[in-house]
Amino acid sequence: MIRFDGVGFGFGRPARANILNSIRLTISDGEWVAVTGANGTGKSVLCKLMAGLYRPDSGVVLVDGEDPRSAAGPDGGPSVGIAFQNPDSQFVTSTVRREILFGLENIGIGGAERESRALEAAELFDLEPFLGRNPHMLSGGEKQRLLLASIWAMRPRHVILDEPFSFLDAAGRRRALEMVRRSFHDEGRTVVWATLDPGELELADRVICLDGGEIIFDGGSEEALSSIPDGILTELRPTGSKGSKGGGIGDGTEFAPAEAGLTPSGPVVMKLDNARISYREGDFGLDIEELTLSKGEVLGLTGPSGSGKTTLLLGCSGLVTVERGQLRLFGERVASKKDFPAGRIAFLFQSPEDGFFAPTVAEEVALGHRRFGDGRPDDEAARDALARVGLDPERFMSRSPFHLSQGEKRLVALASQLVLPAEFVLLDEPALFLDARARARLIQALEGLISSGVTIALASHDTPLIESLATRTRML
Ligand SMILES: Nc1ncnc2c1ncn2[C@@H]1O[C@H](COP(=O)(O)OP(=O)(O)OP(=O)(O)O)[C@@H](O)[C@H]1O
Ligand SMILES: [Mg+2]
Repeated sequence: MIRFDGVGFGFGRPARANILNSIRLTISDGEWVAVTGANGTGKSVLCKLMAGLYRPDSGVVLVDGEDPRSAAGPDGGPSVGIAFQNPDSQFVTSTVRREILFGLENIGIGGAERESRALEAAELFDLEPFLGRNPHMLSGGEKQRLLLASIWAMRPRHVILDEPFSFLDAAGRRRALEMVRRSFHDEGRTVVWATLDPGELELADRVICLDGGEIIFDGGSEEALSSIPDGILTELRPTGSKGSKGGGIGDGTEFAPAEAGLTPSGPVVMKLDNARISYREGDFGLDIEELTLSKGEVLGLTGPSGSGKTTLLLGCSGLVTVERGQLRLFGERVASKKDFPAGRIAFLFQSPEDGFFAPTVAEEVALGHRRFGDGRPDDEAARDALARVGLDPERFMSRSPFHLSQGEKRLVALASQLVLPAEFVLLDEPALFLDARARARLIQALEGLISSGVTIALASHDTPLIESLATRTRML
């Protein structure tokens, strides 16, 4: 049993600024519970309190009647297993195999038992082809499967998963959730997972929603879907609107601009010819016969996890040099890093928070502006960009970008790109981790760019997002 008795937590802030306030909650053994709430409402904090990674400022958290840090599982291992929201931050070894073995070693399981459990886990979560690969070199969905496998191998009694399927599309999530149900819930383990996806909530037995430091809803999934306030849940299932007219996403072909007025006629912004895009390490490569983007076009890139969406974006931007064939940007050939049209291109990476390095949000956002911006004072530009993505400048300017919720980090990264006077904007999974309100603001900000003639390439598993913005799609 997991029990919260009057739990308050605030990262050492004064009690009135608490993130969670006197939370009372009991989760019985074997329950199947989804936790939701807008960005920054404390879902991840709640998860970490359950796993004993944070200690409450007031009240107590008990797992099986004990402090979660000392509560022991069936094998003497930890009673609670947790998967973090950002998988990269959890990996400690250099191969998938060692990563699974590491957890077992830590709880004192050795020899043949250790090997056989690790193999079984790899098989169950489809990781056999990657056993020798560096965990950081997996696709997002593969990384999340590795976290699940590592937890499964340790057989904890309670399993806490912080947005465990965020890198998957709607169909992939359903399959992954089924896999988790079979391998953990059906074996009698408690499963608590955080999510913003109504499709996942639908499948929960119990839903908990956080807001303003409190539990504002605790009940069944049907009631949850009708009573959770707007602005939180983000629907990922295709709506079948606009974009699908011209053939649709998912049939592997490009579709023509839905309305005749959208026929590209402006100058060519980006052109790839007979290009091979690949990395110095590894054997993954992508061959692109031809891809041309004209001014004002919005290209949506879709395709399953691991299909090369990120690679294509890197190739079109000149950030990865094409090996064969050629890339032209704004009419000029880009053959090496020195030809890169700095300042004219903005790029939102899939894990932008990994590149943060300024001490404050204001400075992080203004970094590019300082070099390429329109001459306004840095603070003014940062303030404006933060407001555009919906982060209150008063609250966020002086915070550390490293100590934010995952959704807040994405918005800071987005602001740091929107502040550039770019003509070509590339975005890799820009809506990842965003609640419905933040996602709507993202769409609004991108529509603003589009109406001012900016060219966009957008890779995402979020079909409705692509449908609402793209003038063309290409599936990989
Ligand atoms: N290391 C930290 N130091 C200080 N404050 C933090 C830290 N991490 C998160 N916060 C703050 O705590 C609050 C709750 O964060 P948490 O990560 O639990 O939110 P969340 O509901 O998981 O959000 P998201 O949907 O973005 O993942 C936010 O206001 C966030 O800014
Ligand atoms: Mg979180």
